[in-house]
Amino acid sequence: MALDIIPDIATLRARLKAAPSIAFVPTMGNLHAGHIHLVKLAKQHAQCVVVSIFVNPLQFGANEDLASYPRTLAEDCEKLQAAGADIVFTPSVTEMYPTVQTMRITPPPIANELCGAARPGHFDGVATVVMKLFNIVQPQVALFGKKDYQQLFIIRELVHQFNLPIDIIAGDTQREDSGLALSSRNGYLSSAQKLEAQRLYRTLNIIVDNVQKGHHDYAAIEAQSSQYLTQLGWIVDYISIRSAATMLPASATDTELVVLAAARQGNTRLIDNIEFTRSLAST
Ligand code: PAJ
Repeated sequence: MALDIIPDIATLRARLKAAPSIAFVPTMGNLHAGHIHLVKLAKQHAQCVVVSIFVNPLQFGANEDLASYPRTLAEDCEKLQAAGADIVFTPSVTEMYPTVQTMRITPPPIANELCGAARPGHFDGVATVVMKLFNIVQPQVALFGKKDYQQLFIIRELVHQFNLPIDIIAGDTQREDSGLALSSRNGYLSSAQKLEAQRLYRTLNIIVDNVQKGHHDYAAIEAQSSQYLTQLGWIVDYISIRSAATMLPASATDTELVVLAAARQGNTRLIDNIEFTRSLAST
């Protein structure tokens, strides 16, 4: 079946009326294997797979990369067709925001920590656009990547706290062979920066190993790792060991953990994380 490219809400709604079940993958385009992994997962959950491509101005800060964010619609559509998506929704900014979006979703306090600390208002923009997209597409299932772990957590809260009848399914982070998590922003890296970028995931793995070996002074581990990356020229926003269930700083009794990091190579901000269960041997 050919991929339907639909830029307006009215046509999309008319087209989706007959769809028996809908799985939805929201994206900002410049699709890579991480996005396509979500599309393939989506196909396992519904008969009609809808992908949105919309670079959402509401979630970019004033000094961020809204203008330069890569827009590659023709290539994206080829990839979606090959992956078996049914519909790609490609609204313009005025289609999504015909009037100033003064009504916003206020996310929970965790949205002001981690990535939210460096990007004020970011998760308010994400939650607001995702709520709008959910209302437009009305899927039974929606898929998000664990790569954006804090975003996934906030979307789960959105669905829970607003009683949305949508199952959220998480896709594992897709990586290059080097371990570098796939990201549309990797395209901003020079070849030297890209080589160095591999170190972020390696550092997270070292942290996991240290915890599993019984090092439980999380603040010290975070500070040491951050210092290590800083010495190598990174600008570290945060490295943080958190409870996977609450995303609050991990306590001594938490066993389901996630270590998250955001750090910059030049102007390019990279994020990554690893979920893990603290082994009993390490207690
Ligand atoms: P975008 O960065 O395009 O990501 C779209 C989806 O792909 C997100 O759920 C993200 O977590 C997932 N993803 C990105 N890289 C991945 C990787 N390496 N492995 C697995 N999944 C990956 O996230 C957004 O867009 C926006 O904030 C959006 C939710 C669309 C709202 O505007």
